[in-house]
Amino acid sequence: MKVGFLQFDPVFGEKQENLDRTTALLADHAADIIVLPELFATGYTFLSPEELSALAEPAGSGPTYEHMYALSRTTKCCYSYGFAERDGDRIYNSAALVGPPGLIGIYRKNHLFFEEKLLFTPGDMGFPVFTYKSVCIGMLVCYDWIYPEAMRTLALKGAQIILHGANLVMPYCPDAHKTRALENGVFIVMANRTGEEHRGGKDYTFIGSSEIVSPRGEILVRVDQQTCVEVNEIDPDQALDKRMNTCNDLFLDRRQNIYFK
Ligand code: ACM
Repeated sequence: MKVGFLQFDPVFGEKQENLDRTTALLADHAADIIVLPELFATGYTFLSPEELSALAEPAGSGPTYEHMYALSRTTKCCYSYGFAERDGDRIYNSAALVGPPGLIGIYRKNHLFFEEKLLFTPGDMGFPVFTYKSVCIGMLVCYDWIYPEAMRTLALKGAQIILHGANLVMPYCPDAHKTRALENGVFIVMANRTGEEHRGGKDYTFIGSSEIVSPRGEILVRVDQQTCVEVNEIDPDQALDKRMNTCNDLFLDRRQNIYFK
């Protein structure tokens, strides 16, 4: 299976421009699954609920979904991308998995970062997994990474590949993913954005460093700050084997009765 990520610097509020750039960057890349950053079409620094609401879209419809669905039908690739999801009067910081068959799954960010708490509703769907091309897939959004329980839950539910779309501003996640991948025996494809946003007295610098990590904690690909698409061939079945050696199995050896609840 060929998996990859798109790393770029979306412009706040310029949805059509960000979508057009995405197509230009992705059109020539053959892959099975490509991950895009969190909130890739809108930008990150919403100053009010009204501003967020104006750029939010329902799951499975709206300009961002229609654009990515059309692109997936052309490229035959499946995309995981972050978007502001409207559901009634609530807005979630969500990731969609969209491919030639249509909408495959939605994940709603469970752990909101900093002032996202003033704008978004925390996820209410737990950690769902989805099957694409016979591979079990889980999604996370940015700050979810800091809770080991998030990826652990997906891995215990059978996820072989974690698609992690991000707008990282702290430097810790790319290295932490070596441990997250190793301790769960999963592949991680992390797509972070680059660039800066300065709006209404709020200043964010996004760290790039998108990467693909193997179930053994090896960094298969890691980039710096460049705008790029990187694709790598992986064998998702490697994530089905949780044995560390002939005596240890990552999951079978868990001592659930002695851990904190
Ligand atoms: C983040 O969760 N966007 C840092």
